Amino acid sequence: MFAVVLVGGFGTRLRPLTNTTPKPLLPLGQRTILEWMLTHLARGEVTDAVLALGFKPEPFLAAFPDNTCAGVRLHYAIESTPLDTAGAIGFAARSVGLHERNETFVVANGDIVTELSIADLVSAHRDNVQAGALATIHLTPVADPTQFGVVERDAQSKVTGFLEKPAPGTTTSVHVNAGTYVFEPAVLDLLPGDAPLSVERTTFPQLVQRGALYAQPTEDYWLDAGRPETYRRGNLDLINGSRRDRDDAVHATAQVDAAARIVNSVIGAGARVAAGAQVNDSVIFPGASVGRNARVSAACVMGNVASEAVVHDSLVAD
Ligand code: GTP
Repeated sequence: MFAVVLVGGFGTRLRPLTNTTPKPLLPLGQRTILEWMLTHLARGEVTDAVLALGFKPEPFLAAFPDNTCAGVRLHYAIESTPLDTAGAIGFAARSVGLHERNETFVVANGDIVTELSIADLVSAHRDNVQAGALATIHLTPVADPTQFGVVERDAQSKVTGFLEKPAPGTTTSVHVNAGTYVFEPAVLDLLPGDAPLSVERTTFPQLVQRGALYAQPTEDYWLDAGRPETYRRGNLDLINGSRRDRDDAVHATAQVDAAARIVNSVIGAGARVAAGAQVNDSVIFPGASVGRNARVSAACVMGNVASEAVVHDSLVAD
């Protein structure tokens, strides 16, 4: 099965980290956000993924020189101007001929971290197709839905309302668009892929009007890693035992001085933490360094923290 993975956004909320590294290639534990995503897609029987690229495509091509990741064959569709989410899906799907293959396919936002079973979502979608679905979207419950696309649905899981970032009090639903979809090829008729178009603001409301959008809520681990706070949490959740997926806190090639103190933090490959330094609740990127007696807390460090420096609640670029 094919998947289209949206990885072409600017990642503005994670600047300055994304000034040099696109968001999906930022570390998550000892891998990248995109590697975890592809690992999960592979478990769900996805064999091929088209990366819908726009902003900074080169680092993706360099990251996967043999065009595979987690056993998934990679294809690349590079937009010359940003096409927004629906435009990007249409463009990327056509680039591998999905409009001519009569095949159901998966779409995923490249900044989502989840333990959703793609196989279960596809299976629910196939049932929904019998009832007239053209698309099924994964939903997750959140405490404050106003920052998301809120989904209202009937007892048969047919979506009755799709409200992008609604004002407080305008809906009672706590279920939001969780960024993974299963599409019938006919959805591509709505996605010409030649101009900017938003799947959240245009395509989903169009499908709701036709009664062809269905939803599948799950309680699986889920987060949108696109904000500084959630990005850091996504890293720490891999090492603190709160998830099924786990990763090493300290990479085998990291150099942590015996007189440094590391608490609840990810230390990437080749990173260095000098004597007397303290690192709490933080992510030290591959190759980054923390100098003698520095204090780093609640931070993500891509570059170098000087000796004696105090860094708190910050993103430190290279
Ligand atoms: P912010 O700038 O911080 O909002 O991040 P973002 O650029 O990633 O935007 P957002 O999180 O809303 O995007 C959701 C998903 O769609 C992400 O996986 C983006 O990479 C992707 N995306 C957004 N716009 C485009 C686009 O124009 N082209 C492509 N190919 N992908 C896009």
